Amino acid sequence: MKKKTEHWPSMDERIKQLRALEEEAKKGGGEARIAKMHAQGKLTARERLEVLLDEGSFEEIDMLVRHHTSAFGLDKQRYLSDSVVTGFGAIDGRPVYVFSQDFTVFGGSLGEAHARKICKIMDMAMKLGVPVIGLNDSGGARIQEGVVSLGGYADIFLRNTLASGVIPQISAIMGPCAGGAVYSPAITDFIFMVKEKSYMFVTGPNVVKTVTHEEVSFEELGGAHTHATRSGVAHFMTDNDVDCLMQIRKLISYLPLNNAEEPPWRQPSDSPERMDEALLRIIPANPQKPYDVKEVIRHVVDDGEFFEVHALYAQNLVVGFARINGYPVGIVANQPAVLAGVLDIDASLKGARFVRFCDCFNIPLVTFVDVPGFLPGTAQEWGGIIKHGAKLLYAFCEATVPKITVILRKAYGGAYDVMSSKHIRGDVNLAWPTAEIAVMGPKGAAEIIFKKELASAKDPEALLKQREEEYRDRFANPYLAAEYGYLDEVIEPQQTRPKIARALQLLRTKVDKNPPKKHGNIPL
Ligand code: HXC
Repeated sequence: MKKKTEHWPSMDERIKQLRALEEEAKKGGGEARIAKMHAQGKLTARERLEVLLDEGSFEEIDMLVRHHTSAFGLDKQRYLSDSVVTGFGAIDGRPVYVFSQDFTVFGGSLGEAHARKICKIMDMAMKLGVPVIGLNDSGGARIQEGVVSLGGYADIFLRNTLASGVIPQISAIMGPCAGGAVYSPAITDFIFMVKEKSYMFVTGPNVVKTVTHEEVSFEELGGAHTHATRSGVAHFMTDNDVDCLMQIRKLISYLPLNNAEEPPWRQPSDSPERMDEALLRIIPANPQKPYDVKEVIRHVVDDGEFFEVHALYAQNLVVGFARINGYPVGIVANQPAVLAGVLDIDASLKGARFVRFCDCFNIPLVTFVDVPGFLPGTAQEWGGIIKHGAKLLYAFCEATVPKITVILRKAYGGAYDVMSSKHIRGDVNLAWPTAEIAVMGPKGAAEIIFKKELASAKDPEALLKQREEEYRDRFANPYLAAEYGYLDEVIEPQQTRPKIARALQLLRTKVDKNPPKKHGNIPL
């Protein structure tokens, strides 16, 4: 019998096979499901990564992973890459690890293979000290995989927690994100959501209806607008997939790769010595009148560029990133244009989280103060303003990054202490001549101090006005605080940018430490 000739595949044939596998993987769940996503105005998992990362920089990892589950006929549907695309790439030439859930494969649901892929890139990101960006679009736990899927989530939650404060972690919600799955993004540093295309909730509208009899839509319960304005879960509400991904690129431009690095300096085109006369005209002469503190911020920072975080939530406090003389800074500012700039529960939570993020990642804090105090009322007291306000205080106290404070106008009561005052390790504390620093506003103070006198006065109203004026002259200014050295300097408003720029330069060598401990016990 003739011996069968052996056929060893040539290199060309082997490459053909590899390419065929790659082509198959790139099709995800198939053309029809991709078309469905496009019809919904969404990009696919891989298209999203193309927009997010520098052109041609994406290196995919684990493209050939498949799941190994056979329950419920799953062995007949073993898609290459499973339901998540993972790898690394660059943003402005700086490395990032990424995962992007693929809704075309089992609705982006998370099973063992999916979870292992995410854990792999997270472990690498931690070893290398590189940020992780997760693009979420998933039907949650892969129902067919049962507890293995839950275990996969827990593996990710643990890594999110251990990576917290070591590498920046950013989440984008670009489709469904429900049930326990929300807790991975929730632990990360920033959440972006896409308007009308994404939602997050622990239990959906159907369960809500059964349990509480409330009728609520997906969008109303957990859409981008809800989380950006009401719950504060989302830090950014974006218009569409591309807008979301471009905003993530912008955020990354302010952040160091990890907690051992300095944030990225960029050659400034705006002179650090620029005096801005516009700052002289922002605060109204009447201290009861509001103004927009974002105007102050824009006139101080490089090129007026301010990247606001939580722009729609607790608007009585403004937080965000900017550069001064090319150095990234975290800005915290009371907003007199909203609720007169008072601190309340939401503002305290928003500020505390932001301050702690900046402190984790060596981003200096610049604080602009104009705060009449904490918001009074039963809603605030019963809601726990004591413990929530304490979070902001705690965050500023524990922060060891350079801290520069400018008191623009009001700094009353406990809020004066909280807002990065000298007493809680403010490094450079400045005030404008319009500053009013005291235990309380003139009217309230006069009413208490002169209570008896006012009770027996012939014309209590006139007397109150007079006493109020006396109090204002004596206390509603920066000079008593300056006498005690609680302020380093009272400056003219137009000098604000050069003063901050010089302070930042000076503080570059700052070393400050908190006592050794396992971790503090922030009032949660
Ligand atoms: C497996 C899933 C899935 C899941 C969706 N699919 N979710 N497969 N496990 N969790 C599949 C569908 O069978 C379908 O497959 C495809 O994905 C697209 O789903 P559709 O329903 O056709 O899409 P759409 O109409 O857009 O609805 C999306 C959805 C819905 C709202 C997400 O699919 C849904 O409600 N899914 C179940 C969500 C859920 O209850 N998950 C568990 C949550 S609990 P084909 O083959 O038809 O394309 C949880 C716990 C986490 O996640 C715990 C962590 C601690």
